[in-house]
Amino acid sequence: MLITATPSLIHALRQRRERLAQHVDFPVVLWSGQPQSRNFPANTHPFRSSSHFLYFAGVPLANAAIRLERGQLTLFMDEATPAEALWHGPSPTRQELAQQIGADAAYPLAELAQWVAEAATLPVLDAATRSIQQALLGRSVGIAQAQNQDQRLAEAIVQVRLCHDARAVAEIRQAAAVSVKAHRAGMAATRQAATEAEVRAAMEQVIMAHGMTCAYNSIVTIHGEVLHNEHYHHRLGSGDLLLADVGAEAASGWASDITRTWPVSGKFSPTQRDLYDLVLAAHDACIAKARPGVEYRDVHLLACQVLAEGLVDLGILQGQPETLVEQDAHALFFPHGVGHLLGLDVHDMEDLGDLAGYASGRSRSDRFGLAFLRLDRPLQAGMAITIEPGFYQVPGILQDPVRRERYRDSVNWERLSQFADVRGIRIEDDVLITAEGCEVLTVGLPNTAEAVESLVCG
Ligand code: GLY
Ligand code: MN
Ligand code: MN
Repeated sequence: MLITATPSLIHALRQRRERLAQHVDFPVVLWSGQPQSRNFPANTHPFRSSSHFLYFAGVPLANAAIRLERGQLTLFMDEATPAEALWHGPSPTRQELAQQIGADAAYPLAELAQWVAEAATLPVLDAATRSIQQALLGRSVGIAQAQNQDQRLAEAIVQVRLCHDARAVAEIRQAAAVSVKAHRAGMAATRQAATEAEVRAAMEQVIMAHGMTCAYNSIVTIHGEVLHNEHYHHRLGSGDLLLADVGAEAASGWASDITRTWPVSGKFSPTQRDLYDLVLAAHDACIAKARPGVEYRDVHLLACQVLAEGLVDLGILQGQPETLVEQDAHALFFPHGVGHLLGLDVHDMEDLGDLAGYASGRSRSDRFGLAFLRLDRPLQAGMAITIEPGFYQVPGILQDPVRRERYRDSVNWERLSQFADVRGIRIEDDVLITAEGCEVLTVGLPNTAEAVESLVCG
C-alpha cells in the first residue's frame, strides 16, 4: 500500500538523511527490493520494501532505489507501463513521488548505473535485487562479506536507526494501538471459538480492517512451549492456555509486537495463575528498571532472577536463586532473551546480524541462559524495545538426558509435574525508553490475570 507523504514526513526524512551524512562521507545507494513471484510473474507474495530503504524513502515503493549523499536524495524508479496501469490502476509519476518524499532529483532506474561509483550499500534480502546490486557495483554484497564502506555504512545506519525520531515513535504508537485492539478482539472471540485459527482470524481481521498488515507471522497457539509456533489447527480445550503473539505493522512499515496468554475458559487454574503471576512479576520488574544507561543484559538477568526466586518459592527449583541463575537453571523454563529492538522491523535491524543488538566489542555468549539474548547494549532515550519474559515446558529441553542430569538437584521434578496444565506463558509489551525512564506503548492492553480473565469473559 502506498502512503501519502506529508510535509512533516518530508521534514523527518530530511533530518534522517542529514543524520546519516554526519556519519558517512561517501555516497550511499539503497534498493527497495522487488516482489517475489509465486508462480507466474504477476502473482506475487506480499511485498515489503527493505527497511533501510523505507527509513530514508518513507514510502514503500517496489523496484526503486535511492541515492543519498551529503543530505541530498535522488530517487531512481521507472514509471508504470500502460500494461501495468491496466492491471494495477494508475500510479503516481516519478516526479510526483519525488516531490512527495522531498527528493532533490529523480531518474529512470537505467540511469542508476551512472551514479553508483564509490557508493556503499546494504544487501537487500531478495536474490533478484541482490544480483542487480552486485552487477551494478561490480562486487559481492552481503553482511558476511561486508567490508570497508559497506561495513562503515552498516555501522552508521545502526547509529541513525537505533534511537527513534518523533515521526517513528508516532508510527509505532499507531501500530501498537491497533495491536492492542487485535488482542482485545482475540480475547473476546475465544470462548465462542473452536480452534486457534478462529482466534487468529478475529485478531488479524482487526489489523487488516485498519489497513495494516502483520509485522510477523502471528503465533496463536495452545502450544506456547513452541516459541514461534505457526500452526493454528488445534482445537481449544477448556483447560488450555492460549498464547497469542500478534503485532500490527503500520502502512509505513513501523512495527509493534505484543504477546498475551489467556485461559480459554476465562479462568486460570490455580497452577496456571501461580506461573502467570510469576511471569508478570518478572515483566513488571524489567519495565520498572528500564531507563537510559541501564544495560539491557541486566534487564534480562533481572527477569531471570525474579523467575528463579518465584520458581524456588513454588518448589519447582531448589537452591539459591542467584546460584541457579549463574548455573542457567532458570533457562530450563525461560530459554530465550527478554526482548529485542523494535522499529521498522519487529526484530529491528537483525538483517545486520548482531551489529545493532550488540554494542561494539560485545558478542553473543554461548551460555544456555544467554545465547538467545538479542540485545546487549546500554539503553538510550528513543530506543524502542520489547519486554517479554516467559515460562515454558519445552519437552526437548526438559527431557534432554544431559540437562536432566546437569540439573538433577536443581529441579523438583515431582513438584513440576503438578504444573502440567502450563505449556507456555509469555507476556510481551513494547517499551519506549525516554529521558526520564520509559513509557509502555502497549499499556492500553491490560496484563493482570484478573483483567485478562474479564476480557475473555466479556
Ligand atoms: N514476535 C516475535 C518476538 O516476540 O520476538
Ligand atoms: Mn518480541
Ligand atoms: Mn512477539
